[in-house]
Amino acid sequence: MERRLWAGLSFLSALLVSAPLTVESSCSKGCDSALASYYVWEGTDLTNISRAFNMEISKIVTYNQDKIPNVNSVQWGIRINIPFPCDCIEGSFLGHKFTYQARTGDTYDRIATEWYSNLTTVSWLQRFNNYSATTAIPVNSPLTVTVNCSCGDAAVSKDYGLFLTYPLREENSLESIAASTNLSIRWIQSYNPGVNFSQGSGLIYIPAEDSNGNYPALTSRYLANRSVC
Ligand SMILES: *[C@@H]1O[C@H](CO)[C@@H](O)[C@H](O)[C@H]1NC(C)=O
Ligand SMILES: *[C@@H]1O[C@H](CO)[C@@H](O)[C@H](O)[C@H]1NC(C)=O
Ligand SMILES: *[C@@H]1O[C@H](CO)[C@@H](O)[C@H](O)[C@H]1NC(C)=O
Ligand SMILES: *[C@@H]1O[C@H](CO)[C@@H](O)[C@H](O)[C@H]1NC(C)=O
Ligand SMILES: *[C@@H]1O[C@H](CO)[C@@H](O)[C@H](O)[C@H]1NC(C)=O
Ligand SMILES: *[C@@H]1O[C@H](CO)[C@@H](O)[C@H](O)[C@H]1NC(C)=O
Ligand SMILES: *[C@@H]1O[C@H](CO)[C@@H](O)[C@H](O)[C@H]1NC(C)=O
Repeated sequence: MERRLWAGLSFLSALLVSAPLTVESSCSKGCDSALASYYVWEGTDLTNISRAFNMEISKIVTYNQDKIPNVNSVQWGIRINIPFPCDCIEGSFLGHKFTYQARTGDTYDRIATEWYSNLTTVSWLQRFNNYSATTAIPVNSPLTVTVNCSCGDAAVSKDYGLFLTYPLREENSLESIAASTNLSIRWIQSYNPGVNFSQGSGLIYIPAEDSNGNYPALTSRYLANRSVC
């Protein structure tokens, strides 16, 4: 009798643990826009960034007027925002597929950690491409670079509908992110349950302002049906 009760309970708790995961890993629709937080590493330039995100330099500058004074230079060690459409991919997660042409010496590692500033990872590149993981990728070969995104979550708040995909770096902490975004710690945690903000790697999603400095609300399409990655 007791054993059956325990079996029943562990079955229930297995259900409780796995159910939210399967809900969160599926989507039925995306949203018009998300933002990628790109850490500008020493040595790169706007031409490289423009190439990676298939976006004209002037458009990148428009979105970052306070940070990029002109089209000829970008300061190293800052983060800039790059807008992109947030699509529902394979009905299973939210992201966008960028196309990247391989250059001399490119490897999955270099593409993830340098050209895309850790907005993607080696394993996430391997999921969408079939090149060898150990040798250089043939020059000019097209790669699919998938960057994850979020459209919000009606269960957390209807006030936020635009999200920054933010790769954590060693210097980040929950407190420093809250201070730099001016958002409360509670919001940042609610959108990233279970994340250790000091872990130095991995993606988090942060409510973001649009180019007019407003926080767009959750779009009406998202109010009706919950769908978040
Ligand atoms: C891109 O970044 C590299 C540094 O890795 C730099 O040498 C190069 O000049 C940059 N610009 C272009 C257009 O490749
Ligand atoms: C990406 O992550 C790697 C490993 O944590 C780190 O060495 C590298 O500096 C990061 N790249 C950028 C642009 O932050
Ligand atoms: C993107 O999201 C998918 C689905 O949730 C996940 O499996 C994958 O690891 C994520 N990629 C990155 C780079 O975080
Ligand atoms: C990679 O190879 C698998 C198995 O051969 C194939 O189904 C898949 O379409 C290939 N993917 C790409 C991006 O070429
Ligand atoms: C942060 O929020 C407070 C209170 O809403 C506001 O007074 C302040 O101007 C904001 N600071 C920035 C940098 O946005
Ligand atoms: C979070 O990650 C940091 C860096 O890896 C580690 O020092 C810290 O103990 C972790 N915190 C928790 C609560 O796991
Ligand atoms: C919301 O969910 C309902 C029921 O699953 C579905 O019929 C409807 O098409 C969905 N709406 C949108 C905008 O996806």
